[in-house]
Amino acid sequence: MSMKVVEKIDDMKRLRQQLTEPVGFVPTMGYLHEGHLALIRWARTENPSLVVSLFVNPTQFDPQEDFSQYPRDPERDFGLLEKERADIVFMPSVDEMYPPRFNSWVEVGRLTERLEGASRPGHFRGVTTVVAKLFNIIQPTRAYFGQKDAQQVVVIKKMVAELNMNLEIVTVPTMREGDGLAMSSRNTYLNPEEREVATVLYQAISLAQKLWVRGETNAQVIRQQMLTLIRKEPLAAIDYISIADTETLDELDTVKSPALVSLAVKIGNTRLIDNVVLE
Ligand code: PAF
Repeated sequence: MSMKVVEKIDDMKRLRQQLTEPVGFVPTMGYLHEGHLALIRWARTENPSLVVSLFVNPTQFDPQEDFSQYPRDPERDFGLLEKERADIVFMPSVDEMYPPRFNSWVEVGRLTERLEGASRPGHFRGVTTVVAKLFNIIQPTRAYFGQKDAQQVVVIKKMVAELNMNLEIVTVPTMREGDGLAMSSRNTYLNPEEREVATVLYQAISLAQKLWVRGETNAQVIRQQMLTLIRKEPLAAIDYISIADTETLDELDTVKSPALVSLAVKIGNTRLIDNVVLE
């Protein structure tokens, strides 16, 4: 079947009935890069049917982060998705997803109050609401998320488990540039000097991994060393450095396997995140 681009929820639901099971689903905000393509290829190999959504979700943006400035290039995305043999591209308008007076929200507690949630209040409420809506519309067998947004994966798995949603969440490893920078649509905001400095996130998580492999289990020592490394870069401003339990996201004093090392750093005006699981 040739790829269909669908903008209306009713059309998406109708076409869903014609897809061969199991159905793989990759939710995206578009402006696809190799990181998205890794998810899409993974989903393609595991499922005879593949749906990809392109929707820049306004409810997950911070007020000071410009939703309208988020990069978009649907025509280019369609070309890439055709090559990956997507069956359906679901690209609803904001009004289609959030009609006037929309007022129902999906919220996961506690877990969303820390790390990204602490720095970006309301962000996860937007993510879980749109992801729950997309799951209801598309009814996938499996949905694919990148490990790059580690907390997002933990939050979505909890939502799926606790709200008894009938699908499997598959996590795909982070794709990196040659120098280690995690792929992200936000990397396009970096100027050449900032782009060089941005590798400091990968250097910091690599340092954490190295210390752990050498036997360091004091989380504060590891955090401190990461901090010292990043502070050497005048263009980098640390938002947080965390070493936490992979399920509860509670900060650890003593590192035990598996532990999630994650960080958010502003490089110039661009906020970047990265993580590694110590195991
Ligand atoms: O990870 C993303 O790109 C977004 O948070 C998602 C899952 C597509 C929801 O808008």
